[in-house]
Formats: sequence, C-alpha cells, structure tokens
Amino acid sequence: MSQSYDRGLIEDFGRWREFSAGMWAWVFHKFTGWVLIAYLFTHIAVLSTSIEAADASAAVIANGEDVYTQTLHGLESIVIVRFLEVGLLAVAVFHILNGVRLLLVDLGLGLEQQDKSFYASLVLTGAIVVASVPTFLTGAF
Ligand code: HEM
Repeated sequence: MSQSYDRGLIEDFGRWREFSAGMWAWVFHKFTGWVLIAYLFTHIAVLSTSIEAADASAAVIANGEDVYTQTLHGLESIVIVRFLEVGLLAVAVFHILNGVRLLLVDLGLGLEQQDKSFYASLVLTGAIVVASVPTFLTGAF
C-alpha cells in the first residue's frame, strides 16, 4: 500500500530573499517562457485581421484604410501598448539569451561560470531594451 508524506511547500517563494542566482534564472526563464506563450494569442488575434484586409481593394490597402493597417495604427496610438512592446522585447531577449546560455550549459559549456553568464544575460537584456526605447516610444506622446 502506498504512503503519502507531507513534504511542505517545496518552492517556498516566501524565502525569495535567500534565492541564489540559479533560482532567479529558473524563475525568470519560466516566467518569460509563459509570457511569450500568452503573447502568441494576442499576436495571432492582431495578425488575423489581415485575413479580412486581404479582401480590400488595392486602393484601400494603398491608402492604409484596410482593417489590418487600421488595427496596427490604433494599437500604436495607445501609449500603454508602446510600453508593453518594450516589456515584450525585454521578456523575449532575456528568454533567448538565457535559453542559449542553458543550451550551452546542457552541452557542458560554462558550467563553472553559470552565475556570471546569468548576470551577463541580464545586463545584455537591459542594454538592448534601453537601446530600443527610442524606437518604441518615438511619437508615442
Ligand atoms: C531563440 C529562442 C528561444 C530559446 C533559445 C529558448 C530556449 C529555451 C530553453 C533552453 C528552455 C528549457 C529551459 C530548462 O531547461 O528548463 C525553454 C523553455 C521554455 N520556453 Fe523557450 N526558448 C526560445 C523561444 C521561446 C518562445 C518563442 C517561446 C514561446 C512562444 C518559448 C517558451 C518557452 C516555455 C513556455 C518554456 C518552458 C518554461 C518552463 O519551464 O515552464 N521559448 N526555452
């Protein structure tokens, strides 16, 4: 007969101050991975307006009056959407850099420098995101 044990909460987030770099890397990687999955649905919803737009006449499309172009312009005119785009870039860049780092670790590369490579992913993500701000926010206000 099987027995069950009360092992308590295994990942106790109340102890976040004690988390190591590796634990933060794990938390951020999970968080960013699932944010990207959630974003996919928004992305598909916006792109699907191009199906209807494809039926518009060439003149309507050339003038940017089709539903796809109008949807994009409408979204870009909302300031919070511009900030969300910066956040999405941050999430995607971190996930990619940390993901490549994890793949290298899986190959046995940089096993002794895992903390340093995690911090490098964070710093590089920050630099890329800061550099992107003018692109995303120009004309937003
Ligand atoms: C170049 C791009 C990407 C790289 C290099 C990458 C890399 C990785 C790696 C190595 C893992 C496994 C981490 C582990 O060992 O636990 C992972 C997990 C994951 N990735 Fe990515 N990924 C990329 C793009 C994406 C995209 C575009 C999405 C979503 C649309 C995504 C969603 C996820 C999710 C949901 C997980 C599982 C998170 C969990 O542990 O619950 N990834 N990724």
